[in-house]
Amino acid sequence: MLNSKPIGIFDSGLGGLSVVEKIFVKIPQAKIVYLGDTARVPYGGRTAEELRSFADDITHFLLSKDCGIIVDACNSTSAVALDFLQQKYSNPIIGVIEPGVRAALDTTRNGCIGVIATEATVKSGAHKKAAQELDPGITMISLACPDFVPLVETGEVTGERTFNIVKRTLEPLKGTNIDTLILGCTHYPYLSELIKEVIGEGITLVDPAHETTKETAKYFLQKVPEENSKIKAEDHEFYVTGNPEHFQRLGEVLMGRKLPLVKKVNT
Ligand code: DGL
Repeated sequence: MLNSKPIGIFDSGLGGLSVVEKIFVKIPQAKIVYLGDTARVPYGGRTAEELRSFADDITHFLLSKDCGIIVDACNSTSAVALDFLQQKYSNPIIGVIEPGVRAALDTTRNGCIGVIATEATVKSGAHKKAAQELDPGITMISLACPDFVPLVETGEVTGERTFNIVKRTLEPLKGTNIDTLILGCTHYPYLSELIKEVIGEGITLVDPAHETTKETAKYFLQKVPEENSKIKAEDHEFYVTGNPEHFQRLGEVLMGRKLPLVKKVNT
């Protein structure tokens, strides 16, 4: 029974917490086991081969923790490793690319969609491919934002310096026709206020986490087993491959809630 097992969620670091937040709200009966690969963050400059190998190690780790459904809460690995993982493992593995594209297609009025993401994700062309499979008439403009992940990983999500970096990075989107912008990296929702301020009211931001969470929640629609219906905050498990104190402190600030004790592991 997949819905009586924990949901395994992973990312390179803190970004996947933006997905965990939505899962906490929408699937409160599920226990979460989270792995942030903070020893190897950022993933954005990694090769597809490296990312497949990291995603494989982490999936293996999460399955060793008895997880049922795995959520790849990282666009960079979803872009290049999802097919590989789905072929290798029999458990359902849900990524963030296609859900984000579906949400953007529902949102756009003029068929011109922007996506901001890591270099690895942009290079893969995964959003473009997914969009054109669903609607060949769509125009997609992609922009890599390599400075954004370090800002979130160091907790610099507000202030003038961060605003200026966001403004400078998003400059190439000015003058384009996009009416919808996919936050194509799970770290970016933590910069969404500044992104909104820079791009203006006319462009709708899409956080793929909502659609990803809906897809995950489908597995929990059947009757939830009694013993699994009362998950307490301290029952969730959070692991990192780097510094657990750093993740604990910043994770709690970003999520605005206490996390159970974050533990260090080697995957
Ligand atoms: N949050 C991840 C993503 O969605 C990885 C970012 C990074 O480590 O560069 O792409």
